[in-house]
Amino acid sequence: MSKGPGVQKMFDGIASDYDQMNRVMTMGQDQKWRRFVVEKAGDPGKGTVLDLATGTGDIASLTKSSHPDALVIGADFSFNMLLEAAKRFAGQSVSWQSCDANFLPYRDNSFESVTFGYLLRNVDDSLRVLQEVRRVLKPGAMVVCLDTTPPARNILYPFIRLYFRFGIPLLGRLIASDESAYAYLTGSTMKFHTADELAGIFREAGFLDVGYQKFMMGTIGVHWGSAPN
Ligand SMILES: C[S@@+](CC[C@H](N)C(=O)[O-])C[C@H]1O[C@@H](n2cnc3c(N)ncnc32)[C@H](O)[C@@H]1O
Repeated sequence: MSKGPGVQKMFDGIASDYDQMNRVMTMGQDQKWRRFVVEKAGDPGKGTVLDLATGTGDIASLTKSSHPDALVIGADFSFNMLLEAAKRFAGQSVSWQSCDANFLPYRDNSFESVTFGYLLRNVDDSLRVLQEVRRVLKPGAMVVCLDTTPPARNILYPFIRLYFRFGIPLLGRLIASDESAYAYLTGSTMKFHTADELAGIFREAGFLDVGYQKFMMGTIGVHWGSAPN
């Protein structure tokens, strides 16, 4: 069975507490990674850029602030997350659109860049989504992806594991009144591709110059690549 409907329902349910939970859970680090994503995506000039799985709109908003001349689309399949985005950034001219990342309603070669935060862990087939993203990117344009990454088995592993296993679901219960949504975050992170595997899937989807950087004791990864010319 597809993950989609359950994921959509889950994000519709936590939309109003999502931002506060993010800030607490990451100890205030999350915006730094999003700024890195925007920087890596490059300058779109007056072109059109897409922030997919935009959620409550942080990456789309940062993109618009950094590149006021660009046309910025923030797209997601959770209606409540999009509502929060539109409320939070009412003063900014970002186009909030509803769409499923598996079937992008955009023409080939449309975008100067595509970004997404915490999308691939939530889809059935990362390769399929990346191929869709490649289709809508202009030749030479950048894709930049932020997501959690399974922690490496090093000396920090037991502590990170404890935080993921107990700390995050507890915060989910206290802040978002939804322990299960945040237990899902832990489970889906542990089962997700390692950073090296994900870089391989980017290459398999046809992206060039693929790279990544890890943050937060190796639990967060930003991957990037460029569409072939
Ligand atoms: C953890 S939130 C991330 C939001 C935002 N990118 C951020 O940086 O905070 C994940 C978002 O991905 C969206 N999402 C998950 N699967 C999707 C899909 N197949 N198509 C579109 N959006 C999807 C969810 O609705 C949710 O808003």
